[in-house]
Amino acid sequence: MSKDVRVGVFVCDCGTNIAGVVNVPEVVEYAKTLDYVVVADEGKWSCSVDYLTKLQGLIKEHDVNRVVVASCTPRTHEPLFKRATKDAGVNPYLLEFVSIREQVSWVHMKEPEIATEKAKDLIKMGVAKATLLEEGQEIKLPVKTDCMVIGGGIAGMNAALHIADQGFNAFIVEKEPQLGGLLNHICFISHDNHKIQSAEILKKKIDEIEAHPNVKVYTSAQIEEVDGYIGNYTVTLSTNGTNRKLDISTIIVATGMKEIEPEGQFEYGNDSRVVTQLQLEKLIGAWNAGHETGNVELHIPNTNLPIKDVAVINCVNSKNESRGCCHVGCHNSVKNAIALKTLNKDIRIHILYRDLSMIKEEGKALEEAKRLGVKFLRFPDDQYPEMKKENGNLKLKVYDILLGKEFEITTDLLVLTTGFTGNDGVDEIKGHLKVSTNSEGFFQESHVKLGPLEFPADGIALCGCAKTPTSFKESCEEGIGAAMRASIPMKNGYIEADGIVADIDLEDCNQCGLCFERCPYNAIQVDDDKQPEVVKALCKGCGLCSADCPKECISIVHYTDEQIIAQVEAALAENSEEKIIGFVCHWCALGGVDMAGVSRLQYPPNARLIRVMCSARVSIKMIQRAFDLGVAGVLVAGCEFPTCHYISGNYAAETRVRRAKRKLAKKGYDPDKLWNVWCSAADGPKFANTMREMVKQFL
Ligand code: FES
Repeated sequence: MSKDVRVGVFVCDCGTNIAGVVNVPEVVEYAKTLDYVVVADEGKWSCSVDYLTKLQGLIKEHDVNRVVVASCTPRTHEPLFKRATKDAGVNPYLLEFVSIREQVSWVHMKEPEIATEKAKDLIKMGVAKATLLEEGQEIKLPVKTDCMVIGGGIAGMNAALHIADQGFNAFIVEKEPQLGGLLNHICFISHDNHKIQSAEILKKKIDEIEAHPNVKVYTSAQIEEVDGYIGNYTVTLSTNGTNRKLDISTIIVATGMKEIEPEGQFEYGNDSRVVTQLQLEKLIGAWNAGHETGNVELHIPNTNLPIKDVAVINCVNSKNESRGCCHVGCHNSVKNAIALKTLNKDIRIHILYRDLSMIKEEGKALEEAKRLGVKFLRFPDDQYPEMKKENGNLKLKVYDILLGKEFEITTDLLVLTTGFTGNDGVDEIKGHLKVSTNSEGFFQESHVKLGPLEFPADGIALCGCAKTPTSFKESCEEGIGAAMRASIPMKNGYIEADGIVADIDLEDCNQCGLCFERCPYNAIQVDDDKQPEVVKALCKGCGLCSADCPKECISIVHYTDEQIIAQVEAALAENSEEKIIGFVCHWCALGGVDMAGVSRLQYPPNARLIRVMCSARVSIKMIQRAFDLGVAGVLVAGCEFPTCHYISGNYAAETRVRRAKRKLAKKGYDPDKLWNVWCSAADGPKFANTMREMVKQFL
């Protein structure tokens, strides 16, 4: 280590998010006592312009050449601090980020003293690594001008048109034989537009798509394979039995959603008088065709029985213990009630609801429905209406909490407003693109506020109902938003890829070829003498080669063996038998850790997490060092299969953990104290439960 290493530590209060639990002044004083630290400071809001200016001033004033920021998660705020560090004249690779919000204050809210000690430990680990950091450099990668849009619904079509309008090529890949997605199954868009059928809107949009010279559409198309990375994707499509290749630079996911079929609830599937909202849309379309509105006779499907009474039950298969509010159900139920009343003003309609979530213009729809005579009954969260058949009639018993009494309603048609889940094919696309989904079957955005239209992986944007149920208007807007996200690198013509890449020191290399064979990106090439060489533009920095190299001659910029082991040693310098070292990949595993924090899941404070880009980076040597120092347990956490962001990193990590267990056993350590967990970025509970379970077993 260079003698003139000068570390600056900047600890954030995050308002009261951190300072409400962690004693930040005490942590700052502690940081000042660490070797090589020349300045430590507390910031109320460290990411504010004011504090960043102060931080840059302190860096210059104290001649700081290594920076440690202890605040929220690096997944959202590291780029900002990297820029600030760079602007202050320090190479951004000399910054180390420590998460004391998601990993400390939000998950140990009731243990302020222990949380403060843990924050100190994490900062000590950060400083230990920072002192060993070396300068790095971004790598410029060319990005061309072709974008693939997966899904030809309204969000996807809008995205494609806005890509194409900028002069780029847009390829829409639609699995169905026609464009339109969910719009094909909806009669009217909203009550304001109820004179305009969605078919008209759809036709206009498809005409625009077909007339645009920069848009090409592949229908009945299946994605077979996706290779590459931003600026350089090769996609294999199969369309009607023919395979073709697309060379593209960016991707937009707009795969839409589908209704969750009720499973026998309220006699659905057994009685044709029980339908879902989407099935009602179809009936409204048929009833509406060619009729003047006002007194159209409506009939039960497949019969001649007139419909005089309609009952709607909201929140079927949504807003329960396994999924949240579907966002669109209340408005749909009101919109379709207005459509029925418009067809036949005498029809009686009851909407049975738990909570009406309607905003802005949707509130006007509610007023209109009430004016037209639609009746609303609010039932309790834990007491759904009951249905029985009496003399062939459908009878509902519902308790209205507003009136405090029970009602019995006879209905000719029962409409179930069910929840939604991601469309068919989500799992395959997730595997092809190495992205995450959430427990509701939708794609998981990078960050709900900071990256709502993108994935953590560069070059892949996301919009519309692929991530959550959205209205027509929101889907259109998000399509434009995703097009803008995907256009930025295409407009620039390049992206700056992280300089976290492999470096080979050939001195000890014995040309075994393992690195060359195992690199998931073919980024290591060998010359005629079998000397390996890293092609930096292709290397993604997963670290698989480095962890597997028997001669330890490959290092990864910002994640060298020495740096990671320094973190292990700093963490275990005291009370090692009470601590669990967790190696977490930056993508899904750290995403899960962050989600546990955001959800305020409380778990034992024994974890000391070390971030690596991929679980494949974790070598047996690192694990063994923790055991040598008397750790209580070690966790290697990565993305669930098959969503490792480095193609096969988690598979390699799983194999290596098995090998590590055998090696640990030979050395007399308990191999059962080494655990794996594979999770999605949305899986906070899985991470929290793993920690609880490890502590229960080992402490
Ligand atoms: Fe998460 Fe590879 S990136 S395991």
